Amino acid sequence: MNNDAKTGLFISFEGIDGSGKSTQVKLLAEKFTDPVITREPGGSPGAEEIRALLLTGDTDRWSAETEILLFTAARRDHLETTIQPALSAGRTVICDRFADSTRVYQGATRGDLRATVDTLHTAMIGREPDLTIIIDMDPATALARGLARGSGEDRFEDMGLGFQETLRHGFLALAKVHPNRCVLIDGNRDPAAVAAEIWAHVAGRMEPA
Ligand code: TYD
Repeated sequence: MNNDAKTGLFISFEGIDGSGKSTQVKLLAEKFTDPVITREPGGSPGAEEIRALLLTGDTDRWSAETEILLFTAARRDHLETTIQPALSAGRTVICDRFADSTRVYQGATRGDLRATVDTLHTAMIGREPDLTIIIDMDPATALARGLARGSGEDRFEDMGLGFQETLRHGFLALAKVHPNRCVLIDGNRDPAAVAAEIWAHVAGRMEPA
């Protein structure tokens, strides 16, 4: 719960590639008057530069360890320059991906690097969102949707369906471990129905005006 009246609510969205997070971020943002909508990797000028290094190029461009360092560097800059100032000013922050993506994408897919991810998170980030919406989605449908966007930032989509299935299980496991912070939402439905369920959870976490 967000107990400090001056501090804004920090909400993150998580899920596999193509799970519909971006649509849901926009729909949730419409419920607030002055939200900060942001994303990872990126969300600040420095972190957006790191984003280009991470999301373009060959799938084997970076080792898993180097990737963790780059994602963490981007997150630290994003937290310092965008997220923390907004929360301190009492604004709601809605973030498309945060540390749970590193836990799952880098910590659980290629060897067991979860301990490294956790150590770096504790040392360099040290905070969690107040609420994390995990959108669960059939990996085959989500992958087709993600690739169809043709964003040119498909390094992770290019790792294939098996990779997306491993990610899905990683997010499901995370939701079980953090039942107070994380809410699992079935994304295989009409976006309006998904949005309504998300709003019910968010409204339940907000302090009465
Ligand atoms: P993005 O374009 O935001 O994809 P999506 O719309 O699917 O969220 O690209 C983010 C990609 O980076 C996505 O494939 C997940 C990956 N990623 C990580 O591997 N680790 C991380 O810590 C973060 C934040 C993202």
